[in-house]
Amino acid sequence: MRTPFIAGNWKMHKTVNEAEAFLKELLTKDLPSGVDAAICAPFIHLDRLVQATNDKVGIGAENGHFEAQGAFTGEVSIDSLSDLGVDYVIIGHSERREMFNETDESVNKKVLKALEKDVVPIVCCGETLEERENETYIEKITTQIEKAFKDVDAEDAKKIVVAYEPIWAIGTGKSATSEDANKMCQLVRETIEKTFNTEISEAVRIQYGGLVKPENIKEYMSEPHIDGALVGGASLEVESFVALLEGAHNA
Ligand code: PGA
Repeated sequence: MRTPFIAGNWKMHKTVNEAEAFLKELLTKDLPSGVDAAICAPFIHLDRLVQATNDKVGIGAENGHFEAQGAFTGEVSIDSLSDLGVDYVIIGHSERREMFNETDESVNKKVLKALEKDVVPIVCCGETLEERENETYIEKITTQIEKAFKDVDAEDAKKIVVAYEPIWAIGTGKSATSEDANKMCQLVRETIEKTFNTEISEAVRIQYGGLVKPENIKEYMSEPHIDGALVGGASLEVESFVALLEGAHNA
């Protein structure tokens, strides 16, 4: 059985002090058992969050560089994240692909580096509205997954978390139906199965992302191929984040 996994993606929200206050309040709550929880935050917040958390809430970065060091002004290495004790790293979020030239090749390098450094990669994939409408979305997702998992060792592949996030449903007010989201998560699983085998594809956790909130989390989580959610807006308030974990627990 795959353990459900809810990860907040804070993007460029909250100051360091606000982030720490959020986490401290979150840790006073009675969090449901059997659901993994993580907060992914800006780099500069991570040290304080790692210090403040306990084993109930994992801490993740929103990006990381695959090189150990070098002349990459403004970047942060996955080596440094690992050194700090960060548990997860989001790789290839659509905002990074669209605004910061992230490619399938750089995503793959980051995945390999994260696995090497024991930081769990949360690999994002997703299609644009145009790709959805002109029906190239199946090829798009298949390619993104094949390239992200390239050269990954079979045992390591099981540790990867995939987040299927249709770009047309992120922060836009539109969300994919749970049936649609499930079909796409199934496609991700089948692509992993073809690349490796059934044992591995059944072990990989696949999240859905795009306007997930307390009101719809149960619906998504009831689908067989959706194992969790990567949540932006609805992860920014403690009550809402706890409600997401409870929804995942009760689905
Ligand atoms: P959203 O963002 O939940 O605000 O739609 C999801 C994401 O970008 O990961």
